[in-house]
Amino acid sequence: MLPGMTESLRPRRSCLAVPGSNPRFLEKAKGLPADQVFLDLEDACAPLAKPGARKNIVAALNEGGWGDKIRVVRVNDWTTHWTYRDVVEVVEGAGPNLDCIMLPKVQSAEQVVTLDILLTQIEKTMGFEVGRIGIEAQIENAQGLIAVDAIAKASPRVETIIFGPADFMASINMKSLVVGEQPPGYDVGDAYHHILMSILMAARANDKQAIDGPYLQIRDSDGFRRVAARSAALGFDGKWVLHPDQVGIANEVYSPAQDDYDHAELILDAYDYYTSEAGGAKGSAMLGDEMIDEASRKMALVVASKGRAAGMQRTSKFEPPES
Ligand code: GLV
Ligand code: MG
Repeated sequence: MLPGMTESLRPRRSCLAVPGSNPRFLEKAKGLPADQVFLDLEDACAPLAKPGARKNIVAALNEGGWGDKIRVVRVNDWTTHWTYRDVVEVVEGAGPNLDCIMLPKVQSAEQVVTLDILLTQIEKTMGFEVGRIGIEAQIENAQGLIAVDAIAKASPRVETIIFGPADFMASINMKSLVVGEQPPGYDVGDAYHHILMSILMAARANDKQAIDGPYLQIRDSDGFRRVAARSAALGFDGKWVLHPDQVGIANEVYSPAQDDYDHAELILDAYDYYTSEAGGAKGSAMLGDEMIDEASRKMALVVASKGRAAGMQRTSKFEPPES
């Protein structure tokens, strides 16, 4: 099985942010074709609105109607006094209808372990299946990035490592207010490359999904597509979406193109055939003008797995050569 492709890791091409304090948005989110929703108790909820938002979220999860979406709640980070109440109220109230808790501003493996222990206690107390609820870890500052590999390893519950660009830019004093775009004055490359790659390496080394964060100019669909295409090109599995218009774009950008998907399935079938007795038990072979071998199979499997997970249908078939 390839990294990020385990059975338990479902597609997360589009991860829709929904403020927990707004019941109308919670209701609307149910009908949008996002792979994941995360109901927010953190920065999209004002401090005074947080207690009410916990109740809205429990009610919205228990009402159902979320289809196949991965249901996530973002709690407040451990440096606040809200975290334990967020976790206890939401998991006790809606545990069986919840897939993951998202922990923002993670700075160390210990913060993940602490959440894991709390989840286990709640699951045992409530008679829920122990270990079913996953953890999504948001990397939003220098400490988090430096510890990202340990964070990814901290618990088997960790399913994703997420880049939080807005908080990250603030935490490193980046001279820009425009999330996702290059800071003015930096004209020699992509200022986010190191951060994205470090998150991706930790995710792949530990068999987790890598998720890109928000793009705040919600009316600029071209800008969203351009920024999403960068992390998708590196290998990220998905991106946050803040507006219904961004959902379809993310689903498209983080799925393979039809031609690439067809080609990947063709390589898998061809390699399967050529390595078999009937195909001559070869280690490498020609597919048209292209030489394919075991490494080609692995690359093809990444693209084919993403396409299959996205429900794509192939439009061509491998025909073994006439002997
Ligand atoms: C998201 O939480 C961000 O800080 O970008
Ligand atoms: Mg943040």
